[in-house]
Amino acid sequence: MTTVDTKASTRSAAAPSHAVPWDYAPAPESVKVTIQDRYGLYIGGKWVATNATFDTVNPATEQSLSQVAQADASHVDQAVAAARSAFPVWAALPGKERGKYLFRIARRIQERARELAVLETMDGGKPIKESRDIDIPLAAAHFFYHAGWADKLAYAFPGQAAPKPIGVCGQIIPWNFPLLMAAWKIAPALACGNTVVLKPAETTSLTALRLAEICDEIGLPPGVVNIVTGDGRTGEAIVNHPYIDKIAFTGSTEIGKRIARAVAEEQRPTQSGRTDAKRLTLELGGKSPHIIFEDASLDQAVEGIVQGIFFNQGHVCCAGSRLFVQESVLDETLERLNRRMSTLRVGDPLDKNTDVGAINSKQQFDTITRYIDAGIAEGAELCVPGSDNPSTVSSVTGGFDVGHFCRPCFFRNVQPSHRVAREEIFGPVLAVLSFRTPEEAIQRANNTRFGLAAGIWTDKGSKIFDMAARLEAGVVWLNTYNRFDPTSPFGGYKESGFGREGGRHGLRAYVTT
Ligand code: NAI
Ligand code: MG
Repeated sequence: MTTVDTKASTRSAAAPSHAVPWDYAPAPESVKVTIQDRYGLYIGGKWVATNATFDTVNPATEQSLSQVAQADASHVDQAVAAARSAFPVWAALPGKERGKYLFRIARRIQERARELAVLETMDGGKPIKESRDIDIPLAAAHFFYHAGWADKLAYAFPGQAAPKPIGVCGQIIPWNFPLLMAAWKIAPALACGNTVVLKPAETTSLTALRLAEICDEIGLPPGVVNIVTGDGRTGEAIVNHPYIDKIAFTGSTEIGKRIARAVAEEQRPTQSGRTDAKRLTLELGGKSPHIIFEDASLDQAVEGIVQGIFFNQGHVCCAGSRLFVQESVLDETLERLNRRMSTLRVGDPLDKNTDVGAINSKQQFDTITRYIDAGIAEGAELCVPGSDNPSTVSSVTGGFDVGHFCRPCFFRNVQPSHRVAREEIFGPVLAVLSFRTPEEAIQRANNTRFGLAAGIWTDKGSKIFDMAARLEAGVVWLNTYNRFDPTSPFGGYKESGFGREGGRHGLRAYVTT
């Protein structure tokens, strides 16, 4: 058992190399969290040790935080068996009683919020002000919201028979919003009377394991929530398990396609003895357009652009990573953006003043640098505001002694055919393009294989409604960006996946009607 003094990790973390005329004094988070040397799997209400384990690392310090269990197919089998045996009793509970458990989880997340925020930041690299103000409160909000639905499901889909739970749900989540994604998946499943086997991403398992502790503390019946940690092999064992009734996946488009193929090929007996296909929802990647019209309030739009792409180091599936600016205000917008970006503080994620934290893993850091190289090689112009060096990859990544860090940057003179304009980078890299007319904006914005989100900035209401209706995107934000609420459905078009999470639409994926 180790107690981690967050102040200690502050001292070893990197600071931006470029000189600014004045800077904030360090404001390290003072909460201490206890991290075990080693974690097991949470199956049937018990902690199960495994022989195989792997390191989970703090990407800001590159130091190991703990050893996490690598679950194999037999562990997944145990977890599914636990979820199956818990299912009949859980499903038969009156909705009001299930709701009470969800309310308790929500309240316990709130009570342990500081600890969860620090842990989320240490394990994943996101700035403490984001985990404290966004991730953890939203995770609690998802449990509160779905607690409210648990006894009202009969009213959720008017005109249809009372919905029934599906059974055992296998849920696989990514590393960009670890606890929040766990809440997005678990809360609606439980509210509807399903049981769960959830696998967190391998770089960010610690808050999901804390959530398992919380389930235990509030007396959730054993087997209702099972947390199995591990890499893609564990995920595959979940996807292929014959007694899982539904798969919910959030992650890369590549793995999403692989899962869709596996599920499509499979016919298996369900718990009820029927033979039908496993249900599936996929929330995958994006390359979302962010459109700025000449009549927008430019200072507000610039804040929106920054929030759209640099929130969580750009590790956001709906990040506004393709910026379209109307030609008449392009230069002015970029000048203001440049100025605003040079004030973003990059560095120690546990410092309360940090705006942009650590890149989640070495692997993701390498992916981002490859894309920056590709952008330069294809002829786009790299701009790294606040850096005195000429704009090269090292002006984005250089000057940090330890940890994986990237300064926010953008490419201008981007062609729609450039890789930085087409592919998901998942880092603090913005591709800037322009347009002349609303028609051209629509055409260029929709010219993508993705369709997760979009943003529009304009003063004119009629333009907003006309554009929003024609953008092929699951979420369209108007004069704002990256706002999330449990009552609002979220999901994609095209290669961004299918199915919705949140709101009444999200419940549909967890019931049969
Ligand atoms: P990934 O899709 O491999 O990982 C997501 C989750 O899927 C993790 O829990 C992982 O363990 C699991 N997984 C991996 N292989 C699997 C398999 N064969 N069957 C079942 N589960 C499996 O994403 P990765 O490799 O971490 O990131 C690569 C790229 O994916 C990123 O650069 C980014 O562009 C994109 N990405 C998109 C996310 C989103 O929210 N849309 C989230 C994470 C990554
Ligand atoms: Mg980690």
